[in-house]
Amino acid sequence: MMAKVITVANQKGGVGKTTTVVNLAHALALMGKEVLVIDLDPQGQVATFLGMEQSAGAFYLLSTAVDPSANPLMVLRQQMRFSGRDRLYLIPGNPLTNMAQTMLNASNAPLAVIRRMLTPLVNNGKPDYILIDTAPSVGGIQERAVWAADLLIVPTLPDSSSLEGVQYMAGMVRELKGKGWPGVVAGILPTHYEERTRESRSSMDDLRKAFSPLVLEPISDRTALRDARSRGQTIFEYEPDSQPAAEYRRLAEVILRIEG
Ligand SMILES: Nc1ncnc2c1ncn2[C@@H]1O[C@H](COP(=O)(O)OP(=O)(O)O)[C@@H](O)[C@H]1O
Ligand SMILES: [Mg+2]
Repeated sequence: MMAKVITVANQKGGVGKTTTVVNLAHALALMGKEVLVIDLDPQGQVATFLGMEQSAGAFYLLSTAVDPSANPLMVLRQQMRFSGRDRLYLIPGNPLTNMAQTMLNASNAPLAVIRRMLTPLVNNGKPDYILIDTAPSVGGIQERAVWAADLLIVPTLPDSSSLEGVQYMAGMVRELKGKGWPGVVAGILPTHYEERTRESRSSMDDLRKAFSPLVLEPISDRTALRDARSRGQTIFEYEPDSQPAAEYRRLAEVILRIEG
């Protein structure tokens, strides 16, 4: 079995990308899968969310990607940190990732540069899943991280101003498909969902109208997710019986069921 690469992206910030990466990764690990998270956001927040130290892991990884003499598998293994949670590993990021992005652009690195770098690990079959967190920005790393993905998840807020962010991502997906991207969109994931507010419900309707089969069941707006984050814990450590824990578990089940 080859590893599956899942990229979480939306050029908007604050839509729950990092929250989704961290909690989906832990959900999959708790279901017995070996999971590696790679933090390609220069803010390096995945480490913080998991109660770990930031590092230049992503920088070294991306530098390797543009160096033909490098041994990507060796660098991947060197930069991997154990999260202290069974089967969950992280290659952290930090602000140096920005420099790597400049290098990628300056060297005109191909779209497939990140995928190629990951290929030896993907073919290795362990980990089972590689989750990539991305920065809320356009170009550079983001497109190459989407190209690297077998599955793309696009978190979004369920409000009227967020539809354009999803449309932008849809446009990017069409463009990448046109260039031969073999991945698929696993789904659009509404986060910060408030069942009781009209805006949340009507935006869900709008999303479904525009992107019908791709809209996943939403993640509710719950302070438990913020509290977990500020303690460096996942929702499964902080409040395993909460609604968002159940919702992220359900998302993991959807991912597990995707074939291929
Ligand atoms: N479903 C949710 N309910 C409540 N707070 C959330 C939810 N998802 C994320 N958050 C909080 O919202 C903020 C932004 O989330 P984050 O995952 O960092 O977004 P992004 O990575 O897209 O910038 C964080 O403080 C996070 O703890
Ligand atoms: Mg983030």
